[in-house]
Amino acid sequence: MRVLFIGDIVGRPGRAGLASMMPELRDRHAPDLVIANGENTAGGLGITEKIADELFDMGVDVITTGNHVYRHKQVYEYLDRSDRVIRPANYMAGNPGRGHTIVPAGDRRVAVVNLSGSVELRAARSPFPEADSIVERVGRESDAIIVDFHAEVTSEKVAMGWHLDGRVAAVLGTHTHVPTADARVLPGGTAYISDVGMTGSRAGVIGVKREQALDAFRTQMPVKFDTADEDVWINGVVVEVRSDGLAESIEQVLVPAS
Ligand SMILES: [Fe+2]
Ligand SMILES: [Fe+2]
Repeated sequence: MRVLFIGDIVGRPGRAGLASMMPELRDRHAPDLVIANGENTAGGLGITEKIADELFDMGVDVITTGNHVYRHKQVYEYLDRSDRVIRPANYMAGNPGRGHTIVPAGDRRVAVVNLSGSVELRAARSPFPEADSIVERVGRESDAIIVDFHAEVTSEKVAMGWHLDGRVAAVLGTHTHVPTADARVLPGGTAYISDVGMTGSRAGVIGVKREQALDAFRTQMPVKFDTADEDVWINGVVVEVRSDGLAESIEQVLVPAS
């Protein structure tokens, strides 16, 4: 079974880029399941029901999120209702949405789990014991587990890879919007990458127009950010999952959108 995971889709340019490339990605990788991080899909921050539907129409099966998930109030009720859009599991228990979902992929059941790092990001509980309890719970109901670890620092991400090695098919880092060069299958059989990267404009600064981002850094004054739109790239990974639920391989997908 092959899983295509798409890194943080940023704004309309990212959505349009992915829409144009999905047929080619499907041809090339023949995924049985497509997961995308959608925390930046709505104007660069957050997600809405309409945009989630747009991604589903493109062929995305499950949408993960992260720290920007609650940007738009209208989405809260949808997050409670949807079993295809998830938010980090270690947020406050009473917050809208759920932290994992189990979906069919071919003749298998795949659990998709979203976790947030707790270093430099706000999370209600440590992701490590949270990962233990979810993996134990969903392990009984699924054939493979894919984790989107939405975290800021590489140390916490690498640690999570080792923490879950041999227990899940993949630990895939998101949030920094910059792909890392460390994709590999760990010795226990878990595919790992510190950050998948971003699906959006490479001409900006992690998705924002570069003149505005530079202004903010140069002046240290508040600046209104718009989504960058030139030179859109798809950043993702393809994980081949064996019949035992662990990973055979992980391959980066870094392609310009045409
Ligand atoms: Fe993001
Ligand atoms: Fe994020």
